[in-house]
Amino acid sequence: MSHHPDAASFRAAASRFSTGVTVVTSRGADGAAVGMTANSFTTVSMQPPTVLVSLKRGRTWQAVSETRRYAVNVLAADDVAIGRHFAGTPLAQGTPALDEHDGFLLLPQAIAQFGCAVVNAVEIADHTLFIGEVRWCRHQDGLPLAFYASRFRKGVGAEISPSDALAYPAEGWTI
Ligand SMILES: Cc1cc2nc3c(=O)[nH]c(=O)nc-3n(C[C@H](O)[C@H](O)[C@H](O)COP(=O)(O)O)c2cc1C
Repeated sequence: MSHHPDAASFRAAASRFSTGVTVVTSRGADGAAVGMTANSFTTVSMQPPTVLVSLKRGRTWQAVSETRRYAVNVLAADDVAIGRHFAGTPLAQGTPALDEHDGFLLLPQAIAQFGCAVVNAVEIADHTLFIGEVRWCRHQDGLPLAFYASRFRKGVGAEISPSDALAYPAEGWTI
């Protein structure tokens, strides 16, 4: 039997898909730096390197719509307070410092950073999928911050040994 999900059951089912946590940054038309926590980040293609984020209308949405550029900062496990800050619970010590590289606004402690130019924007309900070609990226070692069942979590689960994962030939993977 299938039925149209209510908001609570959709949220609960969606929350079982574990994700990392990113902060999407941009600059408004007035030059002000903006950013929002987003776990809708996903890679789209390798050639050319392409990603997407799904953003609800708000300050960051406005800035990305206007400038057609955004950066994705993948948070480290220790940076839950930064994730909360950019989701609307401000840090007592104020906005975290952002570096600027090639016009992209970057959190220096992020474990990965992607500078993206919007190549397509798809409006869906009250969100927009901003599909971005990656113009610049960087990464550094560190445990990721994760989000699962509506809770922030530290790190990733136990690794499955290659012998237990033989059914999936790594050579065939695109990512
Ligand atoms: C873990 C987490 C993930 C989130 N992911 C998204 C997302 O992918 N897209 C979105 O529109 N909002 C997402 N949000 C909510 C935004 O971070 C929040 O509404 C933010 O204040 C919007 O900022 P803005 O006013 O600059 O648009 C998420 C919040 C949390 C805590």
